[in-house]
Amino acid sequence: TRLDQDIAKLLATAPDKQKPLVKEELDSFSELFKRFLLEEGPSIEWDRIEKLPENAVQDYIALQEPTADKIHEMLGKLVVVKLNGGLGTSMGCHGPKSVISVRSGLTFLDLTMKQIEHLNKTYKVNVPLVLMNSFNTDEDTQKVIRKYEGLQVEIYTFSQSCYPRISRDYLLPIPKDADVDSNQEAWYPPGHGDFYQSFNNSGLLRKFIEKGYEYCFISNIDNLGATVDLRILNMLVNPAAKNPEFVMEVTDKTKADVKGGTLIQYEDKLRLLEIAQVPKMHVDDFKSVKTFKFFNTNNLWINLKGIERVLKENTLNMEIIVNPKSLSNGMNVVQLETAVGAAMKSFEGGLGIHVPRSRFLPVKKTSDLLLVMSNLYSMQNGSLVMSPQRMFPTTPLVKLGDNHFSKVKEFLARFEDIPDLLELDHLTVSGDVTFGRGVVLKGTVIIIANHGDRIDIPSGANLENKIVSGNMRI
Ligand code: UTP
Repeated sequence: TRLDQDIAKLLATAPDKQKPLVKEELDSFSELFKRFLLEEGPSIEWDRIEKLPENAVQDYIALQEPTADKIHEMLGKLVVVKLNGGLGTSMGCHGPKSVISVRSGLTFLDLTMKQIEHLNKTYKVNVPLVLMNSFNTDEDTQKVIRKYEGLQVEIYTFSQSCYPRISRDYLLPIPKDADVDSNQEAWYPPGHGDFYQSFNNSGLLRKFIEKGYEYCFISNIDNLGATVDLRILNMLVNPAAKNPEFVMEVTDKTKADVKGGTLIQYEDKLRLLEIAQVPKMHVDDFKSVKTFKFFNTNNLWINLKGIERVLKENTLNMEIIVNPKSLSNGMNVVQLETAVGAAMKSFEGGLGIHVPRSRFLPVKKTSDLLLVMSNLYSMQNGSLVMSPQRMFPTTPLVKLGDNHFSKVKEFLARFEDIPDLLELDHLTVSGDVTFGRGVVLKGTVIIIANHGDRIDIPSGANLENKIVSGNMRI
């Protein structure tokens, strides 16, 4: 076929040394693309979704704390993986998202390093950190991690695959040669579901298995709540338990998370259901927080030999996420992606764990940054802990106007320091607004500067259940 010819041409232009890896990647791409061309309609039949069986999702609270003598041994079986293929573009930053400063001048990567170093020192273990980079983040990440030499954490990195984007008009790959650097826009990292394949291709999977490691804990680098949890690990490695191969941490779905993937029982197995797979007429059902109570935090605990097995048997079957994009030259393309959690159904013994919301603390927007920088949290060994002075366990709902707050730099320039948020429920800020030092925000606060106006909240202001707008004096 024309596709095979195009792929053969791309491969022919790869430098000899890189050919074996490029071939692996292009073969996987070709398989994904052919599946996309053949598959029609949603991959699940709504009526065949079964009720979640009892015990399919275990309560975190019921899990046992390991005894001190066991901790050393079980941590010896663990590898921590952070998904680090993404850029900081949505918050207006260049380079990998993981190098954005989030608290006390420390980046996502710094915090992860602190957490693992603390673990390694406390329990005299050697839990390694593995970063899955992409061609977008690898170079910068390599530079940054040099500063961690001397810390008590072994760092490994690998680069995820690089797939060609597809023209929406011709349904063929758009790059003409395999030199990614010469035409970066023609290529893309195909989502975090690519982890299994590229972890294996890198040789790291085999290496860790040979060294006696058993599980990996995978999470998004921007989820500050995704710390190594000893209770979950204890459950995984407990010989009396059923040793599930694939554990997904889920948490209560709120109205703010209705688009997140959920856990369902289907064809006698647990699996991830993403909104993209839902037939249009059932989208509202999917969003219901009553019918589908949980959503996927993307904190996953997976057995390493299990990964090797599903790859060998070629039974990994992750739903395709079609992501349409426009290039800078106006060309319409699609990129086919997969999600790491979608592999759950391919493993033996899938299990959900209903974890507290604190294990899901993602920083997607500057409004999330406001929360994690504030006195709602304190930092302990690289982990953020909610202040005991907060009377209710939920975090405030914060909306910051896109035009003036969406980029980290702009956002930072608008706060002389981060206000006291301990008693805040809801904050909406829109327009040209700045905050002085020592501002306290309580209850519901709404600040709206109309077009052409500017509102400066003076230092020391104490706003409780207040609406501020126009040229109002505070
Ligand atoms: P996403 O951009 O997918 O975040 O990145 P999201 O909006 O939360 O979407 P989902 O629901 O998780 O899919 C999540 C994490 O995955 C990494 C990012 O760096 C981030 O840590 N990622 C994403 C990769 O490593 N590779 C990719 O191709 C995509």
